Amino acid sequence: MVEIAFAKPALPKSGALALLVAEGETPSGLWEQADQATGGAIARAIAAAEFTGAKGKSVTVFGPGAGLNRVVVIGIGKPSDLTPAILQEAGGTATHALVREPAVALAGSALTGPQAADVAFGAKLRLYRFDRYRTKEKPSDKPRLAKLTLLTADSGPAKTAWERLSAVANGVALARDLVSEPANVLTPVAFADRCRALTELGVKVEVLGPKEMAKLGFGALLGVAQGSVQEPRVVVMQWHGASGDGRKGKQKPLAFIGKGVTFDTGGISIKPAGGMEDMKWDMAGAGAVTGLMAALAGRKAKVDVVGIVGLVENMPSGSAQRPGDVVTSYSGQTIEVINTDAEGRLVLADVLWYCQQKFDPAFMVDLATLTGAIIIGLGHEYGGLFSNDDDLATKLVAAGRATGEKLWRMPLDEAYDKQINSDIADMKNVGGRPGGSITGAQFIQRFVNGKPWAHLDIAGMAWSSKDNAITPKGATAFGVRLLDRLVAENHEA
Ligand code: BES
Ligand code: MN
Ligand code: ZN
Repeated sequence: MVEIAFAKPALPKSGALALLVAEGETPSGLWEQADQATGGAIARAIAAAEFTGAKGKSVTVFGPGAGLNRVVVIGIGKPSDLTPAILQEAGGTATHALVREPAVALAGSALTGPQAADVAFGAKLRLYRFDRYRTKEKPSDKPRLAKLTLLTADSGPAKTAWERLSAVANGVALARDLVSEPANVLTPVAFADRCRALTELGVKVEVLGPKEMAKLGFGALLGVAQGSVQEPRVVVMQWHGASGDGRKGKQKPLAFIGKGVTFDTGGISIKPAGGMEDMKWDMAGAGAVTGLMAALAGRKAKVDVVGIVGLVENMPSGSAQRPGDVVTSYSGQTIEVINTDAEGRLVLADVLWYCQQKFDPAFMVDLATLTGAIIIGLGHEYGGLFSNDDDLATKLVAAGRATGEKLWRMPLDEAYDKQINSDIADMKNVGGRPGGSITGAQFIQRFVNGKPWAHLDIAGMAWSSKDNAITPKGATAFGVRLLDRLVAENHEA
């Protein structure tokens, strides 16, 4: 764990220094001091590298003198274009460049407290590592960074802003941990246990097992689970941040629902072997919901929220459901299971119905690695957004823009809905290749009972094959920052 601190600007006498520099900025303050103390080493490096302060560019100076081991200069672009996202990215890039240094001080000319907190946020997000299964890593290959000090004249406001952002970063880290875990470790039962740990943050956690689900009639979810020796779980997490603090009148909770397929082999409609290991992260929707609950509770958000995750393993076996089976969902609607690999929608069907029956939420947002088709449509840049509510959709798109977890709205239409009509049941679980993500969303819509709802198909966004400024390669926790923002901007008093 890297310790993050805020302090008044002063030139460190040892260790490493990161300087955020805007386009057109001339040396002043700490930058000028560092340059003088090192006999102009920074100015020479900047000139030699033709560094202009352009966003995303950086220069590293090794052994510049004055006791410093390294100085990294990071461009943040034009001051007039500066956004929290740019500061977060600069924080991520700077600390990544300096992970080999035990102590790093980071400064930028006139960084306000909240800006320094954003830089720290980016640093913390980028420094995330999932290394619990590396037993042979040499100490010299491990990051050495132990303390990051953000230099700002405004350290009081910085700490206030950081309290909030560090809670969100903790939620992101939790989601990434869950998504990174292999499926032999993170079974539905193990996932539910990790959710239970949120009680420490004041979240009320209830877990439904197969007996309760059978009694309620979760035929769609249980049909998916029946091929696996791993028992399914549904976890209900409630955060009462508005009604809990003595306010009069109960507000309808906001509801977030996650697909939590801890491993998706496809079932009897089995997937090809190549790349099947990726299906350990078919629970990324549930991971994001759990991380979001941790973020909201951790920052004591003044809002009532319920997070529900449907946890199952999709396996082929002698007890697995067959293509052609008909199951009766909790809603009473019957489903012909044409393809056992279209399992996420079956899980969500029962969880969404349960959610709206039990909580009468203001809205429901579900997150799911639902379709390969959304990757064909949007690649790895935008998550797919489907909604029956223009206001909710607009707010989600805006939150996506602000956080960089971008969403693109896709259509819903009765014409697509017809594709999932069945000859023998109320519906079938696949609608053919055309519009595969849309028919998936249409299926889910049949279980929202007219409530305001949005579905985020995050199949292309849950895992990154390359390092990014604030997201290392691997689990992204897509959705946590986005939905935290949605809540903060629109639903907190
Ligand atoms: N979990 C998969 C979708 C997926 C694919 C996520 C690739 C991430 C990467 C989902 O359960 C699935 O198998 N969907 C099928 C649906 C089809 C059978 C209608 C798909 O996309 O092929
Ligand atoms: Mn599948
Ligand atoms: Zn799946």
